Amino acid sequence: MKKFCVIGNPIDHSLSPKLHNFWFKRNKINAIYEKKLLKKDEIPELVGSLRKAEISGVNVTVPFKNTVIPFLDDLSLEAKKTNSVNTLCKEGDKIIGHNTDIAGFELAIRYINYDVKRKKAFIIGAGGVSPSIIFALKNMGCEDISLTNRTLENAEKIKEIFKEIKIERWGNIPEFDIVINATSVGLKNENFILDFKKLGNNRFFYDVIYNPNETNFLKNAKQSGNKIENGRMMFIYQAHQSFALWNKVLPKIDEETIEILK
Ligand code: ATR
Repeated sequence: MKKFCVIGNPIDHSLSPKLHNFWFKRNKINAIYEKKLLKKDEIPELVGSLRKAEISGVNVTVPFKNTVIPFLDDLSLEAKKTNSVNTLCKEGDKIIGHNTDIAGFELAIRYINYDVKRKKAFIIGAGGVSPSIIFALKNMGCEDISLTNRTLENAEKIKEIFKEIKIERWGNIPEFDIVINATSVGLKNENFILDFKKLGNNRFFYDVIYNPNETNFLKNAKQSGNKIENGRMMFIYQAHQSFALWNKVLPKIDEETIEILK
């Protein structure tokens, strides 16, 4: 039986095992996917198990998307540009780091037929997922991207990668068509200090968080009559792309797939 896992810290909340095990069963693949709570100094051993083929594939989540990189042999183009890896594969005798968060976000936006071309995007947060969102937005033709973060220094690090983005002071809200919450604020039903209530009703609010289903950020935006979307489809699509890399099978995404994550 093949073995797969997701590594992170914390990891309890991860729904990746549920989704991958569902797809394994459906596609009659003899494999199991588990979650592993890891400390940073255990990463080399984990990569070693992949090298020895004791494990067939690994997903990487917070806070290791960047710290895993020195232990790998090579990176995909997207992983290199974003300095962010969420999927590990053994290709030949090399361990390669991929970034499927980019395709995850892009496919989720395409799924709802939202066109980002000629739109102004405003991203809140400069954590692990923000470079992937910027990469995907640019890929889809968005040319006007602003970024804000509580800690300015972290936003500036992202601007070193994507020089064309604008940095907004924390507390400022620039003119935008789509705003994306890429922070962890909302996971525990907290509120933002940013107040969008006065803005009206013709914008699109996207939250990377999907559990809870509607963060206060989305609830307030909906109450003001804005379009909203949570990160569930992004999560499903990033998993979908990882699954395809490992198994050379594109599993079906249907109502039943979406339901198991609710
Ligand atoms: P990591 O940085 O380890 O990848 P993450 O959960 O992906 O972690 O990202 C955390 C993001 O949420 C950061 O942008 C963080 O802001 P800081 O860089 O200032 O830490 C943001 N964040 C977390 N708690 C926050 C809060 N209470 N208010 C505003 N931003 C917060």
